[in-house]
Amino acid sequence: MIKVLVTGGTGYIGSHTTVELQNNGYEVIIVDNLANSNAGVVDSIERITGIRPTFEKVDCTDDATMKKVFAAYPGIKGIIHFAADKAVGESVEKPLKYYRNNIDSLLTLLELMPKNGVESIVFSSSCTVYGQPSPEYLPVSEQAPIQPATSPYGNTKQINEEIIRDAIHSGAPYKSIVLRYFNPIGAHPTSEIGELPSGVPQNLVPFLTQTAAGIRKELSVFGNDYNTPDGSCIRDYINVVDLAKAHVIAMDRMLKNRSGVALEYFNLGTGKGLSVLELIHAFEKATGVKVPYKIVARREGDIEQIWADPNYANEVLGWKAVESIEDTLRSAWKWQQRT
Ligand code: UD1
Repeated sequence: MIKVLVTGGTGYIGSHTTVELQNNGYEVIIVDNLANSNAGVVDSIERITGIRPTFEKVDCTDDATMKKVFAAYPGIKGIIHFAADKAVGESVEKPLKYYRNNIDSLLTLLELMPKNGVESIVFSSSCTVYGQPSPEYLPVSEQAPIQPATSPYGNTKQINEEIIRDAIHSGAPYKSIVLRYFNPIGAHPTSEIGELPSGVPQNLVPFLTQTAAGIRKELSVFGNDYNTPDGSCIRDYINVVDLAKAHVIAMDRMLKNRSGVALEYFNLGTGKGLSVLELIHAFEKATGVKVPYKIVARREGDIEQIWADPNYANEVLGWKAVESIEDTLRSAWKWQQRT
C-alpha cells in the first residue's frame, strides 16, 4: 500500500480526505496537534472505513518530532498538507501566530521531503488568493490574477503558494498540486465526521445549523446592500466529500506521473454562485427547518462575490462536484443534530 502523510488529518477537510484515501487503498498516517480537532475523529474514521489510520499527535512546525515521524514510518510517498490556522478574523488579531504556524509547517515539510524520498505534496489553498475578482474574471479560472491578500490568513496561503513555486523552480525533487478551495460545507453522509468549530462559529453554515438547532438565537446576514441580485454576498459552496475526492485524484496524478509537470493549480468549486439569502432558503427547503435571521452591517474584509470556473479541474483531473446543495445542507443538518 502507498503511504501518505496527512497533516491536519483530524480536522474538517483532513478527516474527510483520510476516509477517501483509505477507501482508495492508501495507507494514511495522520499528524495533527489537535489545536482545532480531537483524537476521537480517528475512531470515527475507523467506523466509516473499517481501517484505523495511524495517528501521531504532532505539531508540524516541530522539526525534531517530524523527523522522528518520517523515521518511524519509512516510505511515505506523498503528503497532503492541511495543518494550518484558518480563521480570517483571528489572523488579523494574531498575525504572528498565523505566519509562524502556517509558514513554518510547510517549510518543515518541504525540507524533510527530499531527505525522506517523499515525491509529492498536495497543498490546501484557497480562492482567497484571487481577492475580489473583477467582473471579467467571474467565474474564476486559474488564470485570474492573484491579488493582494486582505488578511494575514490569506497572505499565508499566498506565501505558501510562492514557497512551493520557488522550491520547485529551484529543482526540488518533488511535485506539487495546489488546490484552491471555494467554500467547503456539509458532512460525511454517515454523520461520523463533520465540521466541529470551537466556540462561536465564524463560518456561515456551522452558524446556520447551530441557529436552526436553537443554540444561537438568530443568524446575522452580513450585509444586503452588495451589488448582487439580492444584495447579499455570493460564494461557491462545495460539498466536503466531493472536495476530499479531488485530493485522492491529485495524489494519484502525481504518484502515477500523469501530468508530466512538477506544479499544477486547480480551482475546486461547483461553478455555481449562491447568495447568503439563497443558501438560507435552500437550507429551509431541504430540511423543513426555519432559520431565524436578521440583516446586519457588512463584515469587514468580506468579498462581495466569487465563484469558481471548475472546467480545468473537471477536464484535467476528471473530477466534478456532484452532490446537490440540498443533500449537502441536509448532511450538515444531520451532523449538527448528532453533535
Ligand atoms: C473565507 C475565505 C476562505 C477561507 C475561509 C476560512 C474568501 C473569499 N474566503 O471564507 O478562503 O478559507 O474564510 O474560514 O476570502 N456570513 C454571514 N453570517 C455569518 C457568517 C458568514 O452572513 O454569520 C456570510 C459572509 O459574509 C460570506 C458568507 O456568509 O458572504 C460565507 O462566509 P464564511 O463561511 O465565513 O466564508 P468566507 O468568508 O467566504
